[in-house]
Amino acid sequence: MLYDGCDTGGMPAAPPPVPAVDRLPAGLATLADHEAHARTRLDDNAWAYFSGGAGDEITLRANRAAWDALQLHPRVLRPLQGGNTRVELLGRQLAHPILVAPVAFQRMAHADGELATAHAASALGAGLVLSTQASTPLEAIAAAIAHEPGRGPLWFQLYLQHDRGFTRALVQRAEQAGYEALVLTVDAPTSGARDRERRAGFQVPPHAAAVHLAALSPPPPVMLAPGQSALFDALLQHAPTWDDVHWLQSISRLPVLLKGVTHAQDARQAAALQVAGLIVSNHGGRTLDTVPPTAVLLPPIVDAVGSTLPVLVDGGIRRGTDILKAMALGARAVLVGRPVVWGLANAGAVGVAHVLRLLRDELEIAMALCGCANLADCSPQMLWRAAP
Ligand code: FNR
Ligand code: LAC
Repeated sequence: MLYDGCDTGGMPAAPPPVPAVDRLPAGLATLADHEAHARTRLDDNAWAYFSGGAGDEITLRANRAAWDALQLHPRVLRPLQGGNTRVELLGRQLAHPILVAPVAFQRMAHADGELATAHAASALGAGLVLSTQASTPLEAIAAAIAHEPGRGPLWFQLYLQHDRGFTRALVQRAEQAGYEALVLTVDAPTSGARDRERRAGFQVPPHAAAVHLAALSPPPPVMLAPGQSALFDALLQHAPTWDDVHWLQSISRLPVLLKGVTHAQDARQAAALQVAGLIVSNHGGRTLDTVPPTAVLLPPIVDAVGSTLPVLVDGGIRRGTDILKAMALGARAVLVGRPVVWGLANAGAVGVAHVLRLLRDELEIAMALCGCANLADCSPQMLWRAAP
């Protein structure tokens, strides 16, 4: 060993401590495998929150069942050379149509939380939508990945707060940090009736709290008269309306997408306001139970506005074949929620990267086997049910 100027007392110098890197547990080949393993990693409190839905979880189950019920109808002997998963979204060419959905409190799944998710999404070229209720500051996420050349879109999901001045300041923070679009969630003026959470006595642990809302003062107290509702006469006084969509567009130069649109009339109204895109979503079955599954909600919205706006979809996407079905129904891209949390719980950034990689690989295989070389060529003709 050459002398390097350090007196090691004759002993080789101890290597500097290397931070622990999560290892992917063996035997995880699908997102369902990730789910089963994540159950062993998360406590009952976190599991109730991350995996649960509203009410009887009818919509939660229906989201999955509806993708399963659609059948792909392959064409053979088509040229596949040069095929790819690329899509265009808000003026950018993306390597593939997979985005990470906004999911709150990710430090409850892993100490690295949203930072791990962001690194994984960036490495895999997936878009990232950061939640208003993230447990990591939006500036830290942007600083970590904004300059990565291969990353996907970086968007900020917005919950309008009762204090519109506070909301405006949050929007300005996102703009200044380099976020490229705002995703206004419109399907959750209040939380759904989450029975699993109530049974588990769910609480957000302090280390996973919503950092962006820490400085938000509570709304002024309302003295309810007898017979008045704490929901309608207090909390929902501040619920967003169409006027707020217009207001948001007026205070920010960022494109605004609406997340949680399920009705074609609402889609038309949003298009008339020139929003930049729509995300067809029932919040993964976490808000209003018994809403139809998103695979059923998507086609009428594509029919209504698909020629003027990109329409994205989420809810129950667990396979590359699900993504291909969504594209066949006219989606421009898909978002994935819970599976990202499972990957995160299982192996931090490595686990999230694995989940995204599985989806991308499965999508390529599904395309090849359907005779589809390019996602722009997807149409309902690829689905058995919709075939003439
Ligand atoms: C969510 N979702 C959500 N949506 C949103 O707009 N803001 C948020 O903060 C959250 N938080 C959140 C937490 C958890 C634990 C889940 C599971 C979901 C909804 C999310 O963005 C997306 O719409 C669904 O998760 C999509 O369904 P899948 O992929 O989870 O089935
Ligand atoms: C949820 C909220 C944070 O679904 O959107 O839990």
